[in-house]
Amino acid sequence: GDVAVLVPAAGAGVRLGAGGPKALRQLGGEPMLVHTIRRVAAAPSVRTIVVAAPPLDVEAVHALLAPVAPVLVVPGGAERQESVAAALAAVPVGPEIILVHDAARALAPPSLVESVAAAVRAGSDAVIPVLPVVDTVKEVDGDGFVLGTVDRATLRAVQTPQGFRRSVLAAAHASAAASLTDDAGLVEKLGVRVTCVPGHEHALKITRPFDLAIAELLLERPA
Ligand code: CTP
Ligand code: MG
Repeated sequence: GDVAVLVPAAGAGVRLGAGGPKALRQLGGEPMLVHTIRRVAAAPSVRTIVVAAPPLDVEAVHALLAPVAPVLVVPGGAERQESVAAALAAVPVGPEIILVHDAARALAPPSLVESVAAAVRAGSDAVIPVLPVVDTVKEVDGDGFVLGTVDRATLRAVQTPQGFRRSVLAAAHASAAASLTDDAGLVEKLGVRVTCVPGHEHALKITRPFDLAIAELLLERPA
């Protein structure tokens, strides 16, 4: 394997509701993060996995994941970007392809990890998995009046894992000022071309209770 995967898992999970850090919430009788790491580790390209955990749970996360796969665990930060930066700093010399993958996308299949890694290996500096947007999208003002209809055909919903040539991700995080919800956004600001590959419906982000219910159903009917 020539790939390191950074797994930001330090978020509180406010939108999921009470119950502790989201990555440690139960999904099908196991913590969400166990599902995430099991699938990442099953991808043959993956050599190194670095998890950014809630700072108070670093030891517990290491104990939880040790039987699943060899992982490094570092304390995450207050913002997702800080968690990714902390994980990036812990990657040993070696892997030249780095993927960033939300712990909250617990059911992303190993095949998606492989396809993103393969696109970087084939020459892309930055790669994101995307799906078409199925709903009609409107732009609205602060009072709830419609300003216009966006052309859905040019829109894509973005998932993780996102893949980067190591030097590109390092440069993006070194220059990071604004807080963004994805790492490709940092890379775009450097003027680097970002390549899209097909995403996967099972890579949905578990954000609200509805998403957790969907994930429970998907577990009964695997990819
Ligand atoms: N994340 C992180 N460090 C943070 C914030 C988020 O590592 N300070 C991680 C989350 O653990 C998650 C991923 O980034 O795996 C995507 O974030 P999100 O889905 O927003 O998770 P939370 O921030 O935990 O949820 P919420 O925004 O509802 O609190
Ligand atoms: Mg969040």
